[in-house]
Amino acid sequence: MKIDIVSVFPEYFEVLNLSLLGKAQAKGLVEVTAHNLRDWTHDVHHSVDDTPVGGGAGMVMKPEVWAECLDELLGFAPPSQCDPADAADGADSVGWSEQGGRLAPNDLLAQNGPTNQANQDGQTDRISQADDCRPVLILPNPSAPLFTQRDATELSHAGHLLFGCGRYEGYDARIPAYYRGRGVDVREYSIGDYVLNGGEVAVSVMLEAITRLLPGFMGNPQSIVTESYTGQDALLEHRQYTKPAVWRGMAVPDVLLSGDHAKVDRFRRDEALARTSEIRPDLVEALDCSALSKADRKT
Ligand code: ADE
Repeated sequence: MKIDIVSVFPEYFEVLNLSLLGKAQAKGLVEVTAHNLRDWTHDVHHSVDDTPVGGGAGMVMKPEVWAECLDELLGFAPPSQCDPADAADGADSVGWSEQGGRLAPNDLLAQNGPTNQANQDGQTDRISQADDCRPVLILPNPSAPLFTQRDATELSHAGHLLFGCGRYEGYDARIPAYYRGRGVDVREYSIGDYVLNGGEVAVSVMLEAITRLLPGFMGNPQSIVTESYTGQDALLEHRQYTKPAVWRGMAVPDVLLSGDHAKVDRFRRDEALARTSEIRPDLVEALDCSALSKADRKT
């Protein structure tokens, strides 16, 4: 998998050479390159932002700089300046349409293209979408749909991921719309209901969630099969213990020492169901009932 990251702080990603991701790069499973967005500026100050149109606090990242960078990394020729049809190409299908001789945003949201609803219902469709040679452009954004394990699983099938890290008040909204119009699979994701100073941390989180699912990445591939949010029913995982059996007067549950694998599995499954109902009732509500056995329903 090829991964490009664009940021005004590319040094932030030097840590990716450490740990398991560093090993995966050494093994040739992934090739990660961090680029400095300022390399695509042309002014003496290397400016990447400007004031928001319509007023308001903060600065917004300029579309021209992002587009020069993304065109190059996506292998696109820049659109011809003299052919307006070129610039408009596909724009109406992504939420922008001709109004008074210019392109203006429609009222409808056009986020994450046709794959957006799949968070609720279409995992299989989504896998087939990322499982091709088209690069996927991923833009972290606190106002976007939540990034989930399902998204990580789907994106682990892609051949090329291009992450763009926003800063300040974010990037100009025409950037994702423009690249969708040019046929790029553009995803905007939030990693949680809180606001960070920029996209770098969010990109690191998504990158780790995706790359650890690559075949050959984990020492023991079984460890990604049985964890939280994974599998048909996506429950929280049961609790884990190691030796000693009694520590500071606290014993591990007897059943885990019994050597009876069926009983251990039942105990863990019951605990996963109980913990999920208590901590994340939303996950239980979203459960596919056909994934529950008779014994599960008793819990
Ligand atoms: N940028 C700032 N906050 C973010 C968040 N919660 N998720 C993704 N990108 C962000």
